[in-house]
Amino acid sequence: MKRKAMMAGNWKMHMTISEACKLAEDVAQQCKKYDDREVLLAPAYTALSDVAAAIREDDIIVCSQNVCWEEKGAFTGEISPVMIKDAGGSAAIIGHSERRQIFGESDQLINRRLQGALNFDLLGVLCIGETLEEREAGKTFEVLETQVREALAGVEAGQMGNVVLAYEPVWAIGTGKTASKEQAQEAHAFIRQLIANIYEKNIAEQTRILYGGSVKPTNVDELMAQPDIDGALVGGAALDADSFGRIINFEQAG
Ligand code: 13P
Repeated sequence: MKRKAMMAGNWKMHMTISEACKLAEDVAQQCKKYDDREVLLAPAYTALSDVAAAIREDDIIVCSQNVCWEEKGAFTGEISPVMIKDAGGSAAIIGHSERRQIFGESDQLINRRLQGALNFDLLGVLCIGETLEEREAGKTFEVLETQVREALAGVEAGQMGNVVLAYEPVWAIGTGKTASKEQAQEAHAFIRQLIANIYEKNIAEQTRILYGGSVKPTNVDELMAQPDIDGALVGGAALDADSFGRIINFEQAG
């Protein structure tokens, strides 16, 4: 049985509170009642609670764009899992390549963040992906393996139900260059096998692996038709309700 799809919008550092609420409401209008897919929205921290309130009646997961591992304390600039839940969120993106590349977040830090999310029952959306340089040097699988193993260190098999992975090749983010469906499928199959090696086959079969990097209405159907692609983590195209709506309502192959 194919896993339930997750169509996720990462709004990054966009949208004032009122803009975010309007977009969330417009996206909610686009969501048909599906049993086979979930929708997740990740607004900026400032808009989390208003967005959660605006779409309270809708079946949409509200997600933070990062999370600290502590409940509270002297961690200037951070957001705690308790604060996310208080704002109406139930998930957090962790290890996004912009956090890794621009803000220097390490695999060890990302591991702490993921554990923090899981300890407080948040869904952790763990992002991994190679740079262009790494891909051209033939290091894609090596990089993915290190990122996955280090991020999941200490995460128990029983917690994997609250982990979603997102493969986002850095060279495909915001560049308009999507990985081909073959490149994406190859990486996803590798990641799934890795999860099976770390845990067991059953867990690997149940874990959702999203693809991110220039997902658009025009390429979502072919990406979603790949056996190991279980959803999309969308940046630019998630900022417009019509285009994200088309992505949510991707056409099922076969
Ligand atoms: P784009 O869809 O704009 O390429 O961004 C992808 C991304 O980083 C989602 O987290």
